[in-house]
Amino acid sequence: MKRREGDGAASGSVLGEPSFGVPLGRAPRLPVASAIMHGMSRALLQRYVKVASRAAVEAGGLLARHIGRPRTVTTKRSAIDLVTEIDRASERLIYRILHRAEPAFGFLGEEQGERREAAECRWIVDPLDGTNNFVHGFPFFGVSIGLECDGAMAAGVIYDPLRRELFTASAGAGAFCNGRRIRVSATRRLAESLLSTGFSSKFLTQDQPYLNWFRKAQRNSHGVRRLGSTVISLASVACGRLEGFYEQDLWPWDLAAGLVLVQEAGGRVSDAGGRPVRLTAGQLVASNGHIHRELLRLLTLK
Ligand code: IPD
Ligand code: CA
Ligand code: CA
Repeated sequence: MKRREGDGAASGSVLGEPSFGVPLGRAPRLPVASAIMHGMSRALLQRYVKVASRAAVEAGGLLARHIGRPRTVTTKRSAIDLVTEIDRASERLIYRILHRAEPAFGFLGEEQGERREAAECRWIVDPLDGTNNFVHGFPFFGVSIGLECDGAMAAGVIYDPLRRELFTASAGAGAFCNGRRIRVSATRRLAESLLSTGFSSKFLTQDQPYLNWFRKAQRNSHGVRRLGSTVISLASVACGRLEGFYEQDLWPWDLAAGLVLVQEAGGRVSDAGGRPVRLTAGQLVASNGHIHRELLRLLTLK
């Protein structure tokens, strides 16, 4: 079995309720918000993680009940960008729960767009990441809920309803799966790494730089998976099943929660140039930290 960073470290408390005060092996390198900085107590931030967890688990239950048999499948930006009535129902359900808990917060959802734009804090939600898999009954998809405050990510929750894995993280407080502390893998070399990537719908008209990167990454690692779900890939990096992930042309809701998870699990995130990730730029390299430079180098290699 693969070694995790800090294997044997203290585990969290109950499901979706991480314990505080467990020092991370390494400080997060990019701005996840300090809850204290925003005048929000850790207890309050934990309350939000709990609410988001409840929303993600309920929405995940809905997805699990309908896998492989949505009633309507339509396309959005391209012929492979699918949406179903279950994506929309999941987002409505999540919105109801989050809004009831904290009416002042903004909400950016993939299906409904932005609400209350001026709010200091907003939820960033992908109600079903991996719709294409879901439609085909391929069991890799998840729910993703991030909380952003004053432009920095404060918390993230990703739920995989088929494996019943709830990933939670909040700024400075570590990352957890079903309440147990998780860490990125300790693998130090790209050559011994398992990677993941995704192809956005732009691939249909322009297959570079995707294929170029894929070829280089496949030749220089243990292999590259293409799961069809960004949020499951990011949760997998956070818990040490994968060493790295790269994709571009992503949306804020694909990234938001995963950024917090990976960093709080001791990993690193950046854009393809090694700079801080901007939610709206769509480019993400996420890794266990150790292989980050090698991953970035791959992107510039001819
Ligand atoms: C998509 C998935 C896919 C990624 C695409 C995303 P959706 O999200 O995460 O893996 O390659 O770029 O748009 O449409 O299933 O929510
Ligand atoms: Ca998505
Ligand atoms: Ca989606």
